[in-house]
Amino acid sequence: MAGFFAFDGPNGVGKSTLINEVSNMLQERGIEVLNTSEPSTLEIGKFTRRISEYVRKETLACLVAADRYEHINKVIQPALDEKRIVLCDRYIASSLVLQGIDGVDEQFILNLCNNMILPDIYFILIASPYTIRKRLKERENLTRFERESKIEYLEVEYFKNAVTILENMGIEVYEINTDNSPENCIQQVLEAILVKIKQVEMS
Ligand code: TMP
Repeated sequence: MAGFFAFDGPNGVGKSTLINEVSNMLQERGIEVLNTSEPSTLEIGKFTRRISEYVRKETLACLVAADRYEHINKVIQPALDEKRIVLCDRYIASSLVLQGIDGVDEQFILNLCNNMILPDIYFILIASPYTIRKRLKERENLTRFERESKIEYLEVEYFKNAVTILENMGIEVYEINTDNSPENCIQQVLEAILVKIKQVEMS
């Protein structure tokens, strides 16, 4: 049993909570799950997270991409080879959105993603800008992206565009509206993952 599932969405949309709940429910069914996130906890990832406050544009795009390749090679692919289910918090869509907001050309970002493995399903979480702003207000330390004015509107727009790009890449994308009840969102994601795991097993 193996499967690669990516989760993305605006800061404050509720990614971590949803991923943790789904991960617990999969493990309760005896499925081996690896929860991971980007920037990764590898050296390049730690460096990227720290420096993302100060560097922008193409420089940050390249760092994030370098960390993603390292993450794939050292963490994601080995887990898939061991037939585990990988749940990844942030992936290619984060680059399209955050580097896009930083003013990096879309084709430049896509070129950097050329040799990356693609998820079996990409879950894009969306909520109303009002919900996002409310959640961000509850956070103590905001990143420079989260501090941008009107970020809640900007991210929602960029993620909508990212959905189209991901679909054009042939990726199966599910949009999850986290304004709905959390139980409803968790159930939607869980069912989609269980169906996909079965499909992959049978193929
Ligand atoms: P976080 O908001 O998930 O903690 O991410 C840490 C920083 O990394 C944040 O400033 C955004 C940046 N980042 C990008 O710019 N592009 C990416 O693709 C990813 C995964 C992170």
